[in-house]
Amino acid sequence: MSFDSKYYHIAEAQLSERKARNDRLLAKNQSEIAVNYPEIAEIQARLSRTTSKIIQLIVSRSSDFEEKFGEIEKENLELQRMLEQSLVKIGKSPDYLDVKYTCKKCKDSGYYDGRRCECFFEAVKAAAMEDLNKSSPLSLSDFNDFSLAYYDDSQPVAFGCTAREIMGENLDFCRKYAEDFHLPCNGILMRGATGLGKTHLSLSIANEVIKKGYSVIYGSAPDLFGKAEQEHFGNKERVTLEMLYDADLLIMDDIGAEFESKFYVSLFYTIINNRMNSGKPTIVSTNLSLNDLLSRYGDRTVSRLKTMDDLPFAGTDVRLIRAREKRN
Ligand SMILES: Nc1ncnc2c1ncn2[C@@H]1O[C@H](COP(=O)(O)OP(=O)(O)OP(=O)(O)O)[C@@H](O)[C@H]1O
Ligand SMILES: [Mg+2]
Ligand SMILES: [Zn+2]
Repeated sequence: MSFDSKYYHIAEAQLSERKARNDRLLAKNQSEIAVNYPEIAEIQARLSRTTSKIIQLIVSRSSDFEEKFGEIEKENLELQRMLEQSLVKIGKSPDYLDVKYTCKKCKDSGYYDGRRCECFFEAVKAAAMEDLNKSSPLSLSDFNDFSLAYYDDSQPVAFGCTAREIMGENLDFCRKYAEDFHLPCNGILMRGATGLGKTHLSLSIANEVIKKGYSVIYGSAPDLFGKAEQEHFGNKERVTLEMLYDADLLIMDDIGAEFESKFYVSLFYTIINNRMNSGKPTIVSTNLSLNDLLSRYGDRTVSRLKTMDDLPFAGTDVRLIRAREKRN
C-alpha cells in the first residue's frame, strides 16, 4: 500500500507520543508505589537486582554457571510472584509496575521482525482518513434530530403510502443498519429530490458506525472524485483511492452532482465494483432517477447499484421548510 509520506510522519509522531505517554504512566505508578508502599518498592528493587546478577554471572564465565543461574532464576520468579501478590493486595493490577505497551507485538517501537508493524500502518491509515473527512460535516447529524413531522401524512404519494410512512421506514431501516453494522454487508442507494434528508441520514449512519470502531469515509461525489483525479493525473501517491477502496464504510454523497466526465464514470464503476468484491458497503445518495443513473453511468454500474438496498425518499424540501421556520 502506498501512502503520502506526510501520513508516515504523522504516524511516527503518534507512535512516539504513545510511547512517551506509556512511559509517563509507568513513572507515575512507580513513584506512587515508592511513596505509599515502600515495602513493595523494595521487592521491585530486589527483582531488578536479580537481572544485574544474571548479567554479572554471564560476564564472569563462572564454572558453576548453570547452578548459580538456576538459583537466581528461582529467586527472580519468587520475587515476581511476591510483587504481583502485593500489588493485588493493595487493589492494583498485577502488572501495575510493568512497562506499558499499547502494541504488545512491537512494544511500541513501530517495528516487528525488522519490518514496520501493523500498528504503524493502522496509524498511517487513520491519519489519511482523518484528512479525507476533514471537510465533511461528520459530527453534524444524528438520528435523534431527524423528525418525521416534516413529511406530509395526509395523502399517499407512492405505493399507497404517505411521505411520512415512507420516510418512517427509511429512518427505521437506517437506524437498524447502523446498529447491526458488520462486514461484509450490503450498501444503500438513497434516491430522491433535494432537501429530503439523504445527507442527514447517511451522516447519522456514519456517526454510529464510527462509534463502533469502523473506518468511515464520507464525501460528496464532486469532492471525492476531484481528489482521486488530482492524484491520478498529478502523479501523486494514491491516498484517496486507496482509502475509497479500503474504508469499512464509504459514503458517496450527491452522485450525479459532479462534472460529467468519462474518467469519473469509470472511476465510479471501479470503486463500486472493488468494494463489492471485498464485501465492503457503500452508501450512494443521488438526486438522479434510476433511468438517469443508467444513461450516465451505464448498465454495469447500475446493475451493481440495484443490488444495494434501495431507499426512495419522499416529501417536500425540508431544507426550505426549516429555513421558513427560522424566519418566522
Ligand atoms: N427529517 C428531518 N428532520 C430534521 N432535519 C432534517 C430532516 N431532513 C432534512 N433535514 C435537514 O434539512 C437540511 C437538508 O437535508 P439533507 O442535506 O439531508 O438533504 P438531502 O436529501 O441530502 O438534499 P440534497 O439532495 O440537496 O443533497 C439539512 O440541514 C438536514 O439536517
Ligand atoms: Mg445531500
Ligand atoms: Zn505495533
